Amino acid sequence: MKASQIRIVECGEFNLQRGVVSKRKLEKLLQLVLKEEGKNLSGILNLVLVDTEKMQELKERFFGKRESSDVMSFFYGEEEDQTWGEVIICIPVALEQARVAGNSIDDEISLLFIHGLLHCLGYDDKEPQDLQAMSEKQEQYLNAFKKHLLFEKLINKALKQLDLSYAPYSGYRVASALLCADGTMVTGVNVENASFGLSICAERVAVSKAISMGKRDFEAIAIVSEKRDFCYPCGACLQVLTEFSPGIKVLLARSSEDFKVFDLKELLPHSFSLKQ
Ligand code: THU
Repeated sequence: MKASQIRIVECGEFNLQRGVVSKRKLEKLLQLVLKEEGKNLSGILNLVLVDTEKMQELKERFFGKRESSDVMSFFYGEEEDQTWGEVIICIPVALEQARVAGNSIDDEISLLFIHGLLHCLGYDDKEPQDLQAMSEKQEQYLNAFKKHLLFEKLINKALKQLDLSYAPYSGYRVASALLCADGTMVTGVNVENASFGLSICAERVAVSKAISMGKRDFEAIAIVSEKRDFCYPCGACLQVLTEFSPGIKVLLARSSEDFKVFDLKELLPHSFSLKQ
């Protein structure tokens, strides 16, 4: 089944910075929410961006009350490859809400998009507890989405380093990128030697670089190989990662679009420790 796509339609007059509503980005967000919600929908979701006047007109037409609103949505049905829904966002209201809440415009539009999407998927917010549950879901999906984008960035950082790998003996180039707790990304490549046993893996190079920069707390490590297949870290690297950040996420990537996430503990459930 094909992934759902978004069609953006602009209607009315508003002042929106270019790139704030990115079709590619929102399609990723859409895929994430559909996956988490266990929904298989192919076809098109219309995203209609309107001004206040248009939103009031639509409110009146569909709900009999001329009033402004931030978001409105309609679900048309699950038929394959059809336009299955519509999310309408009022841009001036979104901009004002972002300002009041201290959110970035990007985040506000993402939250409204998720809200509209959840309505399409059957969520209701008439009762306070339902509204609360929906808000929590919105935050949860927005956070998961931001993490996903950060992981993609980390993987791209590693991919860019592959050419620097020194692997004349195995011909197997590996690169890694460590995400430190302060947000810094530190990269590493494998460095081989004519005396084969002296070769060092990309992951341990990144960890050693980070430690010598004064960073010891790591959130994630991305690992990529030139062969573009999943490169599982060796036991030695897993043990070294455990030393500093047993809670680290290990990302094995074929590309920034195709990656798996493991907890370090899954890959090395029993590490060596002097404390045992
Ligand atoms: N290698 C890494 O850099 N990281 C891994 O996770 C596995 C293996 C390197 C070591 C060596 O230079 C080459 O890949 C072939 O073993």
